[in-house]
Amino acid sequence: MKRLHVFLILFIMLSILLADDIWVFVEALNMRSCPSLRCRVVKVLSYGTVLQEMGRAVYTDSYDWIEVLGGWVAMQYVDYVPIEVVGDLPIDFDLNYSERPLPPHYRPSDLVELPREVTTKPGLMLRQEAAEALVKMLEAAQKAGYRLKVTSAFRSWEYQRKIYVAAIERYGPDQRYVAKPGRSEHQLGLAVDLVRADMKCALEKCFKDTAEYSWLIRNSWKFGFIQPYIKYNILYEEEPWHFRYVGKDAAKKYMSDFELP
Ligand code: DAL
Ligand code: ZN
Repeated sequence: MKRLHVFLILFIMLSILLADDIWVFVEALNMRSCPSLRCRVVKVLSYGTVLQEMGRAVYTDSYDWIEVLGGWVAMQYVDYVPIEVVGDLPIDFDLNYSERPLPPHYRPSDLVELPREVTTKPGLMLRQEAAEALVKMLEAAQKAGYRLKVTSAFRSWEYQRKIYVAAIERYGPDQRYVAKPGRSEHQLGLAVDLVRADMKCALEKCFKDTAEYSWLIRNSWKFGFIQPYIKYNILYEEEPWHFRYVGKDAAKKYMSDFELP
C-alpha cells in the first residue's frame, strides 16, 4: 500500500476516534446524500442511533446539517449523547452551558405539586426547595399588590420533545422558542413560566411592560430565582416570563452582573 494511502486511512480512523458522539432523539430521521432536503435519502435512522460527527454544518433550507459516516443529518433532530446522571442534579446545575443534554429518564425524585391557587392548571410540579421558594415569592408579590400564577413548571423529556417538534413544524427549523428535549430547564424541575392572574400578556413580550414583571425583576433573586433568557441571550428568544430557581446564593451572584432596566 502506498504511504499516502496509509496516512489517509490513519487520518480517517483518528478523526472517527476523536469525533463527538451524537444521537438521534426522534423516532425516525432521514440521512441524506448531501446537506439539503433536496438530496436523496440514503437511509432512515431510528431513535437512539449513535453517530459520529465528521463535519458541520451547512445552513440550507433553514436546517443546519451534520456530516456523519455515509451522509448528512439535520442538526435539529440530533444532539450530543446525554450526560449520565445518578440521583438528583445540584440545584444550581447550569444546563444552558452544559455541552451535553439531560437523559430522557431524568426526573427529579423530590418533585411536589404546587398549590392549586398559584397555578393556572392542576398538576404542576417543581422540586421541593424551588416550590417552597416560589410560594414565598408569590406571597410577597401578592402583598405588594401583584397577583401572579404559574402556567408551566416541570416538563418531562418526552413532553419537551413533543413541543419542540411541534414548534419546528409551526415556526420552522430555526425557531428559538422551545428547547430541544434534554435542554430545557423545565426538565430540571426548577423553572417556571409566570403569568398575571388575569392572563394579560401571558407568554407574550408585552409581559415585560407590566408592573408584575418590574416587581419580579427587582425581587425574584431574593427568593433564589433568576431570569436566564433576557434580551440578547444567545440561546433563545427573550422570555420575560421564564424564571429559574438556582438558590439564593447563586441568584445573588448572578444579579451582581446584572443591570436593572
Ligand atoms: N422555552 C424554553 C427555552 C424551554 O423550552 O425550556
Ligand atoms: Zn419556561
